[in-house]
Amino acid sequence: MPDKTVLFTGGGGFIAGHVVPLLLERGYRVRILDNMTRGNRERVAEWTETADVELVEKDVRYGGAVREATRGCTHVIHFATVSINKSIADPHESIDINMTGNHNVFAAAADEGVRRVVFASSASVYGEPQRLPMHEDDELRPLTPYCISKRAGEDLLGFYERHKGISWNALRFFNVYGPGQKIEAYYTSVINHFIERLRAGLPPVIDGRGEQSMDFVHVHDLARSVVLALESGRANVPINIGTGVDTSIASLAKILIDAVGVDVQPRFNPRDVLVSRRAADISRAREILGWQPEISVEQGMAELVRKTAP
Ligand SMILES: NC(=O)c1ccc[n+]([C@@H]2O[C@H](COP(=O)([O-])OP(=O)(O)OC[C@H]3O[C@@H](n4cnc5c(N)ncnc54)[C@H](O)[C@@H]3O)[C@@H](O)[C@H]2O)c1
Repeated sequence: MPDKTVLFTGGGGFIAGHVVPLLLERGYRVRILDNMTRGNRERVAEWTETADVELVEKDVRYGGAVREATRGCTHVIHFATVSINKSIADPHESIDINMTGNHNVFAAAADEGVRRVVFASSASVYGEPQRLPMHEDDELRPLTPYCISKRAGEDLLGFYERHKGISWNALRFFNVYGPGQKIEAYYTSVINHFIERLRAGLPPVIDGRGEQSMDFVHVHDLARSVVLALESGRANVPINIGTGVDTSIASLAKILIDAVGVDVQPRFNPRDVLVSRRAADISRAREILGWQPEISVEQGMAELVRKTAP
């Protein structure tokens, strides 16, 4: 029996799909706690055929179920959440799942004496950035119930660290993309939208001048950061996980035109748009996790286009 077992909430989801194989390679047993509202049943069923993965199909809102699932685990990765879109449409549900869920998971981890908790936080805790690149010590101004719950999650980890000595890392993921992502993903749906148009021979349509930007980080790179955060010598901090590169929507359109290989030019829709930009300062991830991204946006998008070919 391996002596390392991870409780992985939200382990049926998109990013988890890339983290679980790395955990298994490193000799962890994985206990997924997921209510499977958005989980990938086929993938989880393949994993549970092996002795090293089990599925506890429960909801993070139920403290007793979370506590029971945490028993015997040495590590916790907490990913279960409802997304930004849903949190704006239904703040009650979002606060219920995200806030209560965070607390149930962290309290159980503290009570069961797990060695490390890794929490999926989000770059959205910053709100509109005051400067680029965005640094972990910058002011946080979260704008939606989802972002507010991510920030509160980080604060709760601080509470359990002081109160019960829990060891944690909160990873502030930037704009994650890659194979297996659901089409309606909040920030990155623009990628799928452009790819679909290009495959139909149509130009991508850009509002304004396409100056708004995102820091696109490939899910393979991101998955490595989760495992490193589980094992790092230093802990108890939020850590940005991005690439440090802000890719404008206009550049993204060009990158995808090349990746799909069609002869079109983007079409610009003249209108006023609020230009928001994103880029992570990743010096802390380098220093504490020894992590840095290896997949450029050009390589990652080309791979995505190949892997999602109809
Ligand atoms: N994808 C991104 O760009 C991004 C960016 C920043 C942060 N994050 C965070 O990373 C984590 C993983 O994101 P993802 O893109 O893989 O999301 P996802 O929606 O694919 O996965 C979330 C999983 O949580 C499960 N879940 C939802 N509500 C639950 C509940 N009440 N109880 C138990 N399980 C429940 C879902 O069934 C799903 O399998 C999330 O915490 C998310 O907020 C993601």
